[in-house]
Amino acid sequence: MNIELLPWQQEVMGDPSRFKVVVAGRRCGKSHMAAVSIIHSALAKTKGVTMYVAPTQSMAREIMFSKLAEIAHPMGLIEGSNINNLEMTLVGNRKIYLKGADRPDTMRGLSVNHLVMDEFAFFKSDVYETILRPTLSDLRGSALFIGTPAGRNQFFEIYCGAVSGDWPDYNGWTFTTYDNPLVDKAEIEHAKKTLPDWAFNQEYRASFDAKGSEFFKASDFPTYTESDRPKAPCQTFIAVDLAGFNEVGKSKAKTSRLDNTALAIVKVGEYGWWVKDIIHGRWDLNETAIKIFNAVRDYQPISVGIEKGIAKQAVISPLMDLMRQYNRYFRVEELTHGNKSKTDRVMWALQGRFEHGTITLNKGEWNATFLDELFQFPNQLVHDDLIDSLAYIDQLANIAYTSDYIEEEYELLDAYAGY
Ligand SMILES: Nc1ncnc2c1ncn2[C@@H]1O[C@H](COP(=O)(O)OP(=O)(O)OP(=O)(O)O)[C@@H](O)[C@H]1O
Ligand SMILES: [Mg+2]
Repeated sequence: MNIELLPWQQEVMGDPSRFKVVVAGRRCGKSHMAAVSIIHSALAKTKGVTMYVAPTQSMAREIMFSKLAEIAHPMGLIEGSNINNLEMTLVGNRKIYLKGADRPDTMRGLSVNHLVMDEFAFFKSDVYETILRPTLSDLRGSALFIGTPAGRNQFFEIYCGAVSGDWPDYNGWTFTTYDNPLVDKAEIEHAKKTLPDWAFNQEYRASFDAKGSEFFKASDFPTYTESDRPKAPCQTFIAVDLAGFNEVGKSKAKTSRLDNTALAIVKVGEYGWWVKDIIHGRWDLNETAIKIFNAVRDYQPISVGIEKGIAKQAVISPLMDLMRQYNRYFRVEELTHGNKSKTDRVMWALQGRFEHGTITLNKGEWNATFLDELFQFPNQLVHDDLIDSLAYIDQLANIAYTSDYIEEEYELLDAYAGY
């Protein structure tokens, strides 16, 4: 088969992975790529059928039927076609079916050698797992997920998995409209001027950052350097939001995400909160204990809190070992959800403070991750470990202010830690 491909299309076609996830901007050449991929597999694979699925059946007809004909006809590859059934037969009796994800029942019971899902962001979220994935099992068929993002839905999940390196047989790519040299640059520039930023980034730059959430607004998030920190008296707190540990390093189920552990280090004073750092990462138990131990050594907080639960119980033991080993002891407060939902807890702790400008951020690499979480909140598919750890500062600082804890705690720390 001799078809001219754009460089990005060549790269994807040439990759040997069984599952390919392509996130691409508008007019990038996605559907063209899909058509080529279908014709290629239909000709190459002797068993089963090759299937193209669009979000709806009418989209499948409109996008793909003529596109397939356009490419395959001049090469004399078409043996027959039926637009009513949305079927095409290529030479050698190779069948291509075009389907809509809105009619999942028409896809049951097929043995599919290659599956292309176009505009996958607009599929109903469970159609792939429940209906489409099983059609690939017989023949160990391959799949191409392709589309422009539409916020952080199932497409985002599968893309994250594909590029994480944790999923064998998967590979993922992002391409922007700029990667299609056939699209007039002036047209892209026009879109850039007229569309809201988030829409341009989504549609042309293939960004998963959809319109910000209603909860936190993109305005009013100043960041401050160390020297801008208010000179007023303050006390340092460290709050820790722990990830579950059993999953680290293991390959995970397709739709699960690994949480980060996050340590918020905050100086609290009359002026409000100054967030020195939020240290975060995916660590095992020992690494986590070391991070906490080192943070306490470096910042000498008056109080350290860890979210109550199994993970806390697990981390306490290596943490105690470190305390003994270095002869530096500190007390760990237990942080609780109370009886509030996470959303409520975070909103209560952070929203007003942000609105009134009483939280300021130290400039650092973590800012971008933090703000991203904040603007997506409370999207269930997006991590919120950093904001969760910061929200816990509220509880920790309240313990300190509302009781006579400060003095006591300070002495306790000093006496044991010998700082
Ligand atoms: N390899 C190619 N050779 C020639 N033309 C191509 C190639 N790939 C894409 N094009 C052209 O680029 C334009 C956009 O392609 P296509 O419709 O496949 O993009 P798309 O990403 O699916 O767009 P949309 O976001 O509108 O669905 C079309 O005019 C198509 O013919
Ligand atoms: Mg298209």
